[in-house]
Amino acid sequence: MGRMQTQLSFAPLAEAATEVLAVLAADSQTSKAADAKPQPVLLTTDAAVTAAVAAVLASGEYKASANETLLLHAPAGLAAKRLLIVGLGKQAKISADKVRNAAGTVVRFVKPRGIRELTFALPESDLLIAAASTKAAVEGAFIGDFDPDTYRSDRTDKSIESFTLAAPANADKAALQAALTEAVILGESQNFTRTLVNEPGNKMTPTILGQRAAQMASEVGLGWEVHSTEKLHELKMGAFWSVSQGSAEPPALIVLRYEPEGVDRDLDGPVLGLVGKGITFDSGGISLKPGTDMDKMKYDMAGGAAMIGAMRAIAQLKPRVRVIAVICAAENMPSGTAQKPGDVQTAMPFADQPGKTIEIINTDAEGRLVLADGLTYARQLGATHLIDAATLTGACVVALGYANAGAFSNDDELWNKFNAALATSGEKFWRLPLGEEYAEQIKSEIGDIKNTGGRWGGASTAAEFLKVFVDETPWIHLDIAGLAWVEDSKPYVAKGPSGIAVRSILEWVRSY
Ligand code: BES
Ligand code: MN
Ligand code: ZN
Repeated sequence: MGRMQTQLSFAPLAEAATEVLAVLAADSQTSKAADAKPQPVLLTTDAAVTAAVAAVLASGEYKASANETLLLHAPAGLAAKRLLIVGLGKQAKISADKVRNAAGTVVRFVKPRGIRELTFALPESDLLIAAASTKAAVEGAFIGDFDPDTYRSDRTDKSIESFTLAAPANADKAALQAALTEAVILGESQNFTRTLVNEPGNKMTPTILGQRAAQMASEVGLGWEVHSTEKLHELKMGAFWSVSQGSAEPPALIVLRYEPEGVDRDLDGPVLGLVGKGITFDSGGISLKPGTDMDKMKYDMAGGAAMIGAMRAIAQLKPRVRVIAVICAAENMPSGTAQKPGDVQTAMPFADQPGKTIEIINTDAEGRLVLADGLTYARQLGATHLIDAATLTGACVVALGYANAGAFSNDDELWNKFNAALATSGEKFWRLPLGEEYAEQIKSEIGDIKNTGGRWGGASTAAEFLKVFVDETPWIHLDIAGLAWVEDSKPYVAKGPSGIAVRSILEWVRSY
């Protein structure tokens, strides 16, 4: 994917000599009466644009519903070749999030038409903050620009080359420029994650994921290490290793480190630990998955990829807090060397505590096994606060569908901080319960715990499993199984890898 150039313009909209000038509209109708007609209003005060759209807005043909588009060629009085109106839906409910989607919609509207350049008018509304709209619009443009069809020889859907955000002349230029710079970093990082997730299992092995992470880390100036089998044995990562032992592909233990400049290493400030599930293909192992949709299990490294993308953004946005990422990459395969149901594995020891023993009930519950050792290792490396992301359970998808990802936390204060970050990122996570009853379900008669907790409450029993390995450390677990892959394309995002969690983790890290 080419790099999309982004810039601000403070020139009058009428003067924008562009292929497409996109302007936003909203429905100002407040009556709920059945015969109440939509009342589309333009979210720009520009007189030339207002005049150019007056007739079509009055026609009743355009309702300004969310992501509804209407294209006018050769608009009178404008230098632009085309004018594209995009809806935000009900005016009372407009938000930065809606602007993000609208910008994605614009990009996805023009891409298949072979247009490579456009200007997007910053919406003007009392309900929107200009800098937040700028950030959202530019993020949305990057999100919309991503297409997963890299292996098609007839690929025509090439990247946008230039995205100009047009703001009123009296806008706070420095604030908008800062917002744009941030958004470029976030948008590119989220797309970096999506590129990794999009790769099929044969082209994204644990080793390759390690190489891609290392290359990125070198480019942006992060510390990094990529270890394999020997290090897993040295650290006694029996849970992580048990998943990789059935595969011909060696595992990768990927460590990325961000050290802020000027923050004293010896201070006992927080160290944020980001832990990601990096299963590059999940066949289920000996507890083999059914064939239907098994191809989808190439995206089982989306949690790990989210952490790699978040670290890319962290390196560039330079928050004043230390961050360590640990990504546990392995391929879960059935073979003569694979682990079996009934096997007992010993997880990584921590400090003076011996490793917990795990009875393997189902080899398809492998994500929690690699994360167990990843979480322990992050603590050993000094993490004081932990967050993990994983495509962990189908049960989470049953509970929340595709609308919300699942979240769990053992610490309300930490959760509140993360929840506040969600308001900025626009991503939807719903907190689900932990609890003793769920912990009870994963007690084993053979060892300390077992790796599945029976049929019911599967997202919560998986989270309770992870909680054993974080102990008292404040921790958040993100179960992104339902949202890491967009199942149906939307006007603003392609079907395929979503890059969920990158923006939320980044905003959370920046709150320290
Ligand atoms: N990677 C899967 C979870 C998953 C399911 C991700 C659907 C994305 C979409 C995970 O490793 C898994 O297989 N979980 C099992 C756990 C069960 C065996 C306790 C599941 O959810 O069925
Ligand atoms: Mn599995
Ligand atoms: Zn899995």
